[in-house]
Amino acid sequence: MKTASDLLRQEHRQIETHLDGLRDALVSLPAPRVAEVRHHFQAIRTLAALHFRKEEEIFYPSVRGLDPELLAEMDEQHEESRQAERDLEALLAGLPEAPSERDLTELHRLGLMLDDIVQTHILAEEDRLLPWADRTLRVEEQHALAVRMDRLQS
Ligand SMILES: [Fe+2]
Ligand SMILES: [Fe+2]
Repeated sequence: MKTASDLLRQEHRQIETHLDGLRDALVSLPAPRVAEVRHHFQAIRTLAALHFRKEEEIFYPSVRGLDPELLAEMDEQHEESRQAERDLEALLAGLPEAPSERDLTELHRLGLMLDDIVQTHILAEEDRLLPWADRTLRVEEQHALAVRMDRLQS
């Protein structure tokens, strides 16, 4: 039976697939491939929205009391990710059919910033939060959390 930490790790791998695609489309020369940037960005938003809810509504509350400082840091990183998503969303919404050099530079900057923030957060969870949760939570608790997270749908 799957543990809550493994469920979260699996979802990180899915998000990373689209982060790779996003980076690839952003650094493409001579110009970013905008349609692909949009595609991967939407996929990241959809996956991250549900993933963050699973963490914020189910996983984080179950471990928060054990290390409030670490969890506060995770909350802050979620907020940073959401802010970076909003910034990129706003830019893409206003991007003209034929973007200027300046628009594309900004797209490149905001896209790579989102990538960096989300990667940093995934690493923080996998290096610090999840191994510690694996040691601290009982197996039955981990399973019960996984079942609740599985039931949560957007
Ligand atoms: Fe998270
Ligand atoms: Fe996560």
